[in-house]
Amino acid sequence: MRTVFVSAVLLAVAACAAAQTVGPAGKFYPTVTAAAEDNNLVAFAAALKDNDLSALVNNKNLSATIFAPSDEAFKALADSDDKAVQALLADADKMAEVLKYHVVPGATLTGARLVKLIEENKGKFSFKTSQGEKINATLVDGSVNINGVPVKAVDVQGGKVMIHTIADVLVPPSLVPKAKKADAKEGEAKAEKKSESGAAGVAASLLLALPVAVAALF
Ligand SMILES: *[C@@H]1O[C@H](CO)[C@@H](O)[C@H](O)[C@H]1NC(C)=O
Ligand SMILES: *[C@@H]1O[C@H](CO)[C@@H](O)[C@H](O)[C@H]1NC(C)=O
Repeated sequence: MRTVFVSAVLLAVAACAAAQTVGPAGKFYPTVTAAAEDNNLVAFAAALKDNDLSALVNNKNLSATIFAPSDEAFKALADSDDKAVQALLADADKMAEVLKYHVVPGATLTGARLVKLIEENKGKFSFKTSQGEKINATLVDGSVNINGVPVKAVDVQGGKVMIHTIADVLVPPSLVPKAKKADAKEGEAKAEKKSESGAAGVAASLLLALPVAVAALF
């Protein structure tokens, strides 16, 4: 009897979970962390946690749109032998700024709505981020780019926050090392063509690499 009862409860729980998955537009989760961890944004979720930003993004009152770098993007960052990148990763204050630069507070925007906003504003829409500086959304061959970085997947929702996956980590202009600024324009042009260095097993090694890089100072 007990077994039957437990199974019934599990079925009910499973049914509830299924009911939360909204239709073809995307997936729904109760929190940003849950959404990120279930959608190959494990490193982003870990970085938020390491930088004490989980509470900020998981606040159920927060309406926002987040452009979350893929696990491959964080892996590339952690693997970079660029000293400026490593210095950034090792600086907790700056990393918190970098992460907040991916959060646009105020509206829960679907991918389709983003496209409309850009189209209605002559091909470019600027959003103010939680970090304070702006990001630019544009259309490249019909796909949304953020500061020249392609959006790879859209419409995963955690609470009132809409999450879109981007192919690279965004750095606020004020934190871009001076020597790098000259390359930025060229980088934007290339970003479109750049393919993600996706490989199986990347996420697992990243889990080791990123927290080590980020936690190095604590
Ligand atoms: C959400 O908003 C309500 C109403 O303003 C407030 O009472 C509550 O404390 C807020 N919750 C969080 C987690 O900030
Ligand atoms: C966004 O666009 C504005 C206006 O063209 C430009 O001044 C600014 O540098 C751009 N920001 C980024 C992060 O590319």
